[in-house]
Amino acid sequence: MVQMLAELEREGLDSLAGVKDADALERWRIEYLGAKGRLRAAMPMLKDVPKDAKPAIGKRLNEVKAALETAFETKMQAIGGGGEARASGPVVDITEPGLDLRPGRRHVLTRTVDEITDVFARMGFSIAEGPEVEDEWHNFTALNIPPDHPARDPADNFYLRSVAKAERTSDLRMLRSQTSTIQIRTMEKTKPPLKVVAVGRVYRPDTHDATHFSMFHQIEGLYVDRGVTMIDLKTTLFQFARAYFGEQAEVRMRPSFFPFTEPSAEVDMKMKVRGEWQWVELGGCGMVDPNVFEAVGYDAEEWTGFAFGLGVERIAMRKYGIADIRMLFENDARFLRQF
Ligand code: DAH
Repeated sequence: MVQMLAELEREGLDSLAGVKDADALERWRIEYLGAKGRLRAAMPMLKDVPKDAKPAIGKRLNEVKAALETAFETKMQAIGGGGEARASGPVVDITEPGLDLRPGRRHVLTRTVDEITDVFARMGFSIAEGPEVEDEWHNFTALNIPPDHPARDPADNFYLRSVAKAERTSDLRMLRSQTSTIQIRTMEKTKPPLKVVAVGRVYRPDTHDATHFSMFHQIEGLYVDRGVTMIDLKTTLFQFARAYFGEQAEVRMRPSFFPFTEPSAEVDMKMKVRGEWQWVELGGCGMVDPNVFEAVGYDAEEWTGFAFGLGVERIAMRKYGIADIRMLFENDARFLRQF
């Protein structure tokens, strides 16, 4: 059988070498590789081979099969014939225009974040960070948000699945709903005085529409020192507004309430929106509540501070004339390329 296989291989390759067109190739295929072809006919002979020789001969049979098949493929490519080759081979239309390769660029939101942090960095703020998966302590408790406060409602937060299993509240995990968590994390590991900004994603189960998305970005500021007042807060926001939105920018604070600040205010900035100066609501601010200082072990008699939290998308959408927040996260290159 060894000899028979050698002959089959040699004859097959020799006669394939003489094949010149698609029809002859198809005849060759039927004779050697076809369902009733010579290779197939050789297979049953394997069972008459002595047992100890079977592995070697079986291997040889596979080699011959592979050799004939490879040679056939090569020939088929060379002739460019055979129905199958025409259907499955690569089709290259050399008249088709090429792809326009463009350099990559920063996402318009990334750019906004870089611009904003740049302004605050020039005002002496350093950059702080914190995790997106948080515990209740950092997202609520240390921020003076009581256990029964509506802000903790499961319908308004992304608690992680382990909530149901959590026995102690300190086991509760969630996607942070505000970057104010970073105030706590920073104070827990830094001694006052300090002056930081932090930018990051926050998550809330909002229904998506032109102005709501379940994930968005906030920029958080925190300044702690002796003798800090509302004047420092407003001056800081004002300087930011002028540096970022231009010489005609203005800041307005409206009395409000946040558990972690006292007094608290909403922040509006007057900025240019599609060529016109307009008031835009950007977030909240206030003087750090003494309870927050106590939660992180700061002496509330000695230290004072202000904090603010602004929506990054709100800024970016006005500044770059983006009407729908969803466009920021769809990653359509045609949209992103405009900025
Ligand atoms: N964390 C608030 C929110 O998500 C925004 C905020 C208000 C942040 C007042 C602050 C602050 O730092 O002082 O709505």
